[in-house]
Amino acid sequence: MLSYQHGYHAGGPADLHKHIALARLLALLTRKARPITYMESHAGRGLYDLEGSQAVKTGEWRAGIGAATQEDGPFWQALDQVRAAHGESAYPGSPAVARALLRPDDRLILMELHPAEHTALVGALKGPGVEIHRRDGREGLLALSPPKPRRGLALIDPSYERKEEYTETATFALALARKWPDAAIMVWYPILPAARHVGMVSHICGKAPATLISETGFPAHGGRKGGMIGSGLALLNPPYGAREILGDYRFNEKNE
Ligand SMILES: C[S@@+](CC[C@H](N)C(=O)[O-])C[C@H]1O[C@@H](n2cnc3c(N)ncnc32)[C@H](O)[C@@H]1O
Repeated sequence: MLSYQHGYHAGGPADLHKHIALARLLALLTRKARPITYMESHAGRGLYDLEGSQAVKTGEWRAGIGAATQEDGPFWQALDQVRAAHGESAYPGSPAVARALLRPDDRLILMELHPAEHTALVGALKGPGVEIHRRDGREGLLALSPPKPRRGLALIDPSYERKEEYTETATFALALARKWPDAAIMVWYPILPAARHVGMVSHICGKAPATLISETGFPAHGGRKGGMIGSGLALLNPPYGAREILGDYRFNEKNE
């Protein structure tokens, strides 16, 4: 099922939580001179327009980037770059956050299965050092792991359209950690009143050697019953220093 389109949710509070953490992690990993590989299993279209029809329809970004105060830090540098290139209403997806922060020798590998989202991603991101695949993200990342350079980060950001995606995501993240042990692996998950993430998080924390959890809560958009009330990140194999940089949000630590 590929009905999800991230344009309706881009720039919302969950995106901000995920993209700020991603930018901080990339800044941490690129402090050392050695190049890294950054891979994404579910890339989306890479670049969003907050004045576009999807974003206007939901207005979710107003409670996220629309309510945030500009700060110093890697996410805000990436946002400035994207706005300078594409206008004030542009908002970077995770691939554009990564491209803004990676260096010429780093490798950026993106998987996106939805045909229209993939075409838009190619239009937004193609360039030297960027590899874009229209491919199942789980199959693609496992097939390419371990990549060269071996040090790096993977983002797993599914749309959780099906209930089984929680179990599938936990299994995939753990398999990827085994195949690419030099990588930090960040899994995003929604927090719903149904609390479907709980089993997934405890499965990951029970099996992965080390996992950091960062969660933040917010009101459901439009007060929708059953809607998303928070955003979570599970970081498997966290690099040294990750605990401090994920720490602006409510922070739990497991297995470390
Ligand atoms: C939550 S969005 C990604 C948002 C993006 N990571 C960001 O933060 O800007 C999830 C994306 O995964 C894509 N997708 C769904 N199933 C997929 C699969 N099996 N393999 C790759 N991409 C998939 C969807 O089309 C959608 O664009």
